[in-house]
Parts: sequence; C-alpha cells; structure tokens
Amino acid sequence: MSLPGRRRRTLWGVSDISELADIHYVRQKERDGLGDAVQYARKHVGDEPFALLLGDTIVESEVPCTANLISYAEEYESSVVSFERVPWEKVPSYGVADVPDLEPEQPCFPVTDFVEKPTCEAAPSNLAITGCYVLLPEIFDALSETEPGVGGELQLTDAIRKLSTVHGVVLEGDRYDIGNIPDWLQANVRMALHHDDGEINRAVERLLREEIDG
Ligand code: G1P
Repeated sequence: MSLPGRRRRTLWGVSDISELADIHYVRQKERDGLGDAVQYARKHVGDEPFALLLGDTIVESEVPCTANLISYAEEYESSVVSFERVPWEKVPSYGVADVPDLEPEQPCFPVTDFVEKPTCEAAPSNLAITGCYVLLPEIFDALSETEPGVGGELQLTDAIRKLSTVHGVVLEGDRYDIGNIPDWLQANVRMALHHDDGEINRAVERLLREEIDG
C-alpha cells in the first residue's frame, strides 16, 4: 500500500519487508511435521545460519527476539533457541529443554538435550521452545537423518538434538501464541494499543471504550 505524501511505512514504521528481503513461498505438500516443513527451506537457505520464526508466535519486546538470538548465535557460533517458562500443565504442548542447571545464571546457556511434547511427569524442565530459532545449516543433514517422532511426524526438536552445539535464551517481552482465537484477538488489540502511531492506538482505545461502556 502506498500512502500519497507520506513515506511508505509498514505497521511498525520500518521499510517494507520486500525492500529488506527476497520472499519465497513454499507450500508443504502434506502435513508431516515442523521438521518436514523446515526441509523445504534448504534450497533457499544454502550454507548459512538462518532464523526460523513460527508464524503462530508473535513476540513484543524492547530488543527484538530475533536480533537477540542472532547476536548469541554469532558470539557462541552455535544454534540458539528461545525459551519461555510455561506452567507445568502446559508442558505437553511444547518441546522442552533439558538443561544442567534449571535456573541458568547466564542469559545464554548451553542446552544438553530436548524432548518434544513430553508428559508432565517425564519433562526435564518447564523451559518451553517458543517458536523462534537461529539454526546453523547442519540442521538440514540432521533432519534428513531423523526418524518420525511424536505424532508420527518429522519433529524439528528431534533433529536439533543431533546438532553439535545448541544454546538457549529465555525470551524477554510478551509472547502471543496466535494459534488460538482468544490469543489472536488479544495480540491484535494489545499491539494496536501499544502502537506508537497515535491514530491507531487512539482509534482502538475509543472503539473498546464504546463497546464496553455502551
Ligand atoms: C512446535 C514445536 C515445539 C514448540 C512449539 C512452539 O510445536 O514442535 O517444539 O514448542 O512449536 O509453538 P507445534 O505448536 O507445531 O505443535
């Protein structure tokens, strides 16, 4: 969309994504797991580290989550995965970290192992993978050597277990899992209210007040 007389902006006030990157779109032929979906990216990624951002996870934070992961991936020359502590009863919906120290002191810590969707009893921690990763290209060979896992699907988490080095970072800011309708709505409303364009946040605030106050 081009606005006459104004600099072209995205919602977040930066240049259009299309000016920053080449966009390729690949459709996963059948539902065969996150690991299978990631394999489709191989020919576009080549032999470079890359960010993998699951579309149903939105993060709002002062330091962008991806920038944070990239800086640690460069510092440690390692794949880096972002985590969030989730309530124990939610652990079976996530991949979780097995870490030597359950309360890691450093912001970026080594992860010894992972388990995809464990039961609450079997879970080694409640540090859940949030859906933001920076991965070294060795992940593609690891994926091609990985057997189907939970749900009979090729699980990315199982391939990550095979990598030479993986670090974890606890996500800062707010995460919205927009794979369900209430959270999707909440994410839209909150992000509109936080928006620094006065027109948008005032309009949404007014609308909400009208709806609530009648
Ligand atoms: C995927 C990953 C899981 C991760 C989750 C984050 O699961 O397999 O490790 O914790 O995303 O949203 P899915 O939500 O696709 O079942």
